[in-house]
Amino acid sequence: MQINRIMIDFSKIEIETVRNYWNSRPCNIRHSPREIGSKEYFDDVEVRKYFVEPHIPCFADFSKWKGKKVLEIGCGIGTDTINFARAGAHVTAIEYSEESLKIAKQRAEIFNLPIKFYHADAENLSKTVPVESYDLVYSFGVIHHTPYPEKAIFELKKYMNKDSVFKIMAYNRNSYKTWWIIFKYGKGQFWKKDQLIAKYSEAQTGSPVTYSYTKKTIHDFLKGLIVENIFVDHIFPYSIPEYKKYEYKKVWYFRILPKPLFQLMEKTLGWHLCATAKLK
Ligand SMILES: C[S@@+](CC[C@H](N)C(=O)[O-])C[C@H]1O[C@@H](n2cnc3c(N)ncnc32)[C@H](O)[C@@H]1O
Repeated sequence: MQINRIMIDFSKIEIETVRNYWNSRPCNIRHSPREIGSKEYFDDVEVRKYFVEPHIPCFADFSKWKGKKVLEIGCGIGTDTINFARAGAHVTAIEYSEESLKIAKQRAEIFNLPIKFYHADAENLSKTVPVESYDLVYSFGVIHHTPYPEKAIFELKKYMNKDSVFKIMAYNRNSYKTWWIIFKYGKGQFWKKDQLIAKYSEAQTGSPVTYSYTKKTIHDFLKGLIVENIFVDHIFPYSIPEYKKYEYKKVWYFRILPKPLFQLMEKTLGWHLCATAKLK
């Protein structure tokens, strides 16, 4: 498979390194101080996630998939997963971090939602998950963390037919967060952009793989798919020390920035590049 990247190539990194990283701290695991696995914990996680990332329910459009088959790639601890299922979708979810998967399964059990889970690597999906068509293939913030994302895209197309929809969120290379990382942590060394993005993209420092894309490069990346809609959104405006204490105090410059300007910034320099595509 030909790789045509303008950025750093993480394809030599072992998928096990990626798995170990997410096992050591599953995504959003600290979204609640309560006992992990309790109903109250999961309710808190959901409230916090959609409070901080309110564009997700609009992008996922959970209710649209009622009665439809949804395949989620990289479900993490399952926040979107259970929302698809609650909306009445028939959900199959895959995840490569066992720790994340364990929690997502617990969550489905607690809320009594019949979700099919697989421990699978997106790059080798068809080795584990039976190939059949889904109405929606959904992946939020995942494919850019796998060493060889083109392979994952190649695999997940096997689960689509001409009417299937693919929704992906990948990180936006030309975002406010990118520049914030370069200046805050990289002291302006923009030539180290890729390494810096990877190191500081997540709540836990040192993600082994984080690619980022632009509205242009995502088209090449999603080979064989035609992008029907694309937008950027999401700037995190809160002060981290307070956020860690579950308090939502904006940093001073976002406090004084008028809301319409902040929204405009999110729509132009947001961190989340959200694309909806179909098979070509
Ligand atoms: C940023 S988290 C997002 C989780 C979830 N989609 C969410 O929005 O909360 C990235 C997830 O991708 C998973 N992941 C990374 N590479 C993967 C792969 N090749 N196959 C399956 N899951 C993968 C990680 O284990 C991690 O749970």
